[in-house]
Amino acid sequence: MEFTNVVENRASVRKFSNEDVNIEDLKEIVRLAGKSPSPNNSQPWKFVIIKNKEKIDKIAEIVHNKIDTLFPKDVENVKSTVERFSTFFTDAPVLVAVLSTDYSAVVDKILPENEITHEELNAMRNYPDVQSIGAAIQTFLLASVDKGLGACWLSGLLVAKKEIEDYLEIGKGSQLTACIAVGKALGETNQNEKKDLQEILEVIE
Ligand SMILES: Cc1cc2nc3c(=O)[nH]c(=O)nc-3n(C[C@H](O)[C@H](O)[C@H](O)COP(=O)(O)O)c2cc1C
Repeated sequence: MEFTNVVENRASVRKFSNEDVNIEDLKEIVRLAGKSPSPNNSQPWKFVIIKNKEKIDKIAEIVHNKIDTLFPKDVENVKSTVERFSTFFTDAPVLVAVLSTDYSAVVDKILPENEITHEELNAMRNYPDVQSIGAAIQTFLLASVDKGLGACWLSGLLVAKKEIEDYLEIGKGSQLTACIAVGKALGETNQNEKKDLQEILEVIE
């Protein structure tokens, strides 16, 4: 598909057909996501493809339980809305857990001689590792469109980050940063309306 069409056709897909997703397509999508930029080419990401329905359902159950603990009451349907947008992935044939892996910046080498920690510098630089994950996820989403798949970026389920990490046995040095629901879209998909160019663009000459 032509690049502009890929970008225009990308939409957050939350309804999926029962059709299975070819693992080779998923591998190619992850390969392309791995082409994304990152500080010092550190590539601080890992993609865990979960195709097991029981495991996907279990993760949704973990999220439901956590939301129940955090928000016991459903005031003005806020809780049920949050719950729906955080657990709809049970209908997806594939859930991808996107992990960020520990990375070190070039400047880390001289940190012991200076009064600044890796964490402080990372915060000053506005978390380049997390920014990189965003780039990789966007590439993943665009590559999915090119393969005729629909996908949705998920952060709502991270209210149960620790619990999901424990369930998936995500070890030290990696942490769950986002998930992506993937599958064949059911019905029409429409990208949400976007701001006009003049609202998002400023040119300084
Ligand atoms: C960082 C991030 C987190 C998101 N988390 C969720 C989520 O937890 N649940 C969900 O249904 N959509 C989630 N989305 C999708 C957004 O709701 C969606 O991108 C936005 O409404 C614009 O719609 P569009 O993707 O169709 O253009 C997330 C998107 C981003 C970039």
